[in-house]
Amino acid sequence: MTKPGEVFEDSRVYDPGIEAIVPRYDELHDAILNAPPQERSASVRVLELGAGTGELTAKLLTRFPESTVLAVDHSENMLTEAERKLETFGDRFEIARGAFPDDYPTERAEYDLVVSSLAVHHLDGEEKRALFDAVYDALVPGGWFVNGDVVRFDADHLETLADTMIQNWVRSKGWEEEEFMDRWEASDDYDDPDTLTDQLVWLREAGFESVTPVWQYYNFAVFGGGKPQ
Ligand SMILES: C[S@@+](CC[C@H](N)C(=O)[O-])C[C@H]1O[C@@H](n2cnc3c(N)ncnc32)[C@H](O)[C@@H]1O
Repeated sequence: MTKPGEVFEDSRVYDPGIEAIVPRYDELHDAILNAPPQERSASVRVLELGAGTGELTAKLLTRFPESTVLAVDHSENMLTEAERKLETFGDRFEIARGAFPDDYPTERAEYDLVVSSLAVHHLDGEEKRALFDAVYDALVPGGWFVNGDVVRFDADHLETLADTMIQNWVRSKGWEEEEFMDRWEASDDYDDPDTLTDQLVWLREAGFESVTPVWQYYNFAVFGGGKPQ
């Protein structure tokens, strides 16, 4: 696959900026963490793909106090921020630099949970399918994959609606979208979202059961499925 470049030139500005460009960012994370079947007290082994600065990682380690997480990202800059943020969680997390689906997941039947937030849409359709297959293999029977991501509508008027919604959201935070992206030094060159429907079908084809959307706000969705017992 083509390895994505740095989406953010300066990873220190990611955290203050993300909520201005992604509507309901916290709600999306909440839906990811609410979806898995595991009890909060369970010793959950988690693989996180595209952990970035570790925002979801920190929430996950807090929500599941007995969990351990392998947080993967290809960006050294983002992982430096994550390392700093997650320090207080001691040895409950590990950080690994690498790209999915080429470098991760590598393990088979190792994880109770695989999660990702706002990262898989950087892959094209074929790579997403390869990733869903690899995630399936990496899960233990009964394990779950939950992905919160940008999705594409298969209707021009809905794509326009989603664009307008984001412009209005960014405006409500005091910015114009283009100016914001320039200042934030973020690139959308690597974006390649697919429809939610296609991705649900690909999850089914990978072998997942109970495949379902859990949450959606315009072109942002949380969805996933479980590996049969
Ligand atoms: C928008 S950030 C999301 C970060 C975090 N998950 C969150 O919710 O805030 C996307 C992250 O995915 C990483 N990423 C994108 N494609 C990747 C790939 N194929 N392999 C590894 N990391 C990738 C980027 O480096 C970036 O840190």
